[in-house]
Amino acid sequence: CSILILNGPNLNLLGTRQPEVYGPTTLADIEALCQAKATDLGIDLTFAQSNHEGELVDMLHDARGIHAGIVLNAGAYTHTSVALMDAISSIMVPVIELHLSNIHAREAFRQKSYIAPVAVGQICGFGAAGYPLAMDALLSYIGEAA
Ligand code: DQA
Repeated sequence: CSILILNGPNLNLLGTRQPEVYGPTTLADIEALCQAKATDLGIDLTFAQSNHEGELVDMLHDARGIHAGIVLNAGAYTHTSVALMDAISSIMVPVIELHLSNIHAREAFRQKSYIAPVAVGQICGFGAAGYPLAMDALLSYIGEAA
């Protein structure tokens, strides 16, 4: 089984980007954490990041037939992107929505998610620890492991 963890805009700057909001962990640290967990679970993991909306759409399309499911932290596109919502609706690959911060406890504009209505579910507010939690949630959903 193979899964995709896809990260959107500005998440390449984790570690130095507003650490009071997003924590001190870099995206490379998070990738290492996720790869170690994937090894434990005996699954293949592709970990990717893009700052470009269309590239994220392409990566969602390309998951078809390759990945059993996707963990998506769409960053700010969460709150703006009908294109990402439509892509998720079109691919027939389950998506878990993920955020480091608790978007429901932040500015009003972050409380609207275009991803939530088309995702299996959402994990937010647990910082970097949310990534392995989201992997567990995805594998539980697709029936691969607990
Ligand atoms: C985020 C929350 C978004 O509102 C924000 O634009 C991000 C990161 C998070 O992981 O908490 O870029 O998705």
